[in-house]
Amino acid sequence: MTPKELLARSPIEQYEAEVLLAHILGVQRSWLLSHGDEDLSTEDEHAFMTHARARASGEPLAYLMGYRDFWSLRLIVDQHVLIPRRETEHLVEWALECLDAGDQKVLDLGTGSGAIALACKSERPELSVTGTDQSEEALACAQRNSEALGLEVRWKRGSWFEPVDARDWDMVVSNPPYIAASDEHLVQGDLPAEPESALIGGETGLEMLEHIVTEAPGHLRPYGWLLLEHGFDQGEEVRTLLTERGFSNVATRADWSGQPRVSGGQWQN
Ligand SMILES: C[S@@+](CC[C@H](N)C(=O)[O-])C[C@H]1O[C@@H](n2cnc3c(N)ncnc32)[C@H](O)[C@@H]1O
Repeated sequence: MTPKELLARSPIEQYEAEVLLAHILGVQRSWLLSHGDEDLSTEDEHAFMTHARARASGEPLAYLMGYRDFWSLRLIVDQHVLIPRRETEHLVEWALECLDAGDQKVLDLGTGSGAIALACKSERPELSVTGTDQSEEALACAQRNSEALGLEVRWKRGSWFEPVDARDWDMVVSNPPYIAASDEHLVQGDLPAEPESALIGGETGLEMLEHIVTEAPGHLRPYGWLLLEHGFDQGEEVRTLLTERGFSNVATRADWSGQPRVSGGQWQN
């Protein structure tokens, strides 16, 4: 069978089918256009149809291919970690703007695949970056990413600030679980295949965000920043949490689609 014929029989939509087939063949997607009438091996046909059926039954493309591109990095992902999202790149962008030059200390809470920590380190090698997660499997994935990318980040296991020293950080960043347990989005898109512990933030969805805002001042150096990703409808509540806790310069930034997605403030005490 040729790529054209195989793609015509695919049970998934055309773009994803092309990405998947290119991945299986180890070629660029554009190769499929110029070689669309050449014969494929039975092995490749079989591999494609197996993966395409898994995709059709809800398995995320990123888990099937084993990676997701984030920032300028290709990150290994598996079913133990959240698939890094474009929105989170806005958090990285803001973090890099706030950090001064030099050996500053950055803490990424709930690091998952290591996306935020590794993106910061890749841009600013002089930073001292630590990523924490309570999931051992997630930290194993983050570790594989740092080894594959040659980026030195410290990985520590434990709940939020528990595995790190107090009052030691110039910046704390986090994309914690922030979806309410009853939210209907949990059954949509890739979410049903992702770890619940990476998605659900409690009954209201704000619980983890509130915990981090409450604890952060005990861990930030004077003038240190706390930057948090949150749901599109949580900006006002997160700003209120930050302001009531005593943070200054509290602000929210929108993502590429105009939705408020990252809020933060500076600890000036
Ligand atoms: C939304 S995911 C974010 C992953 C990654 N930072 C990213 O942006 O792609 C939230 C992460 O928080 C971790 N997590 C959940 N509860 C935690 C806790 N109590 N302490 C530390 N990490 C936690 C999950 O295991 C998951 O990796």
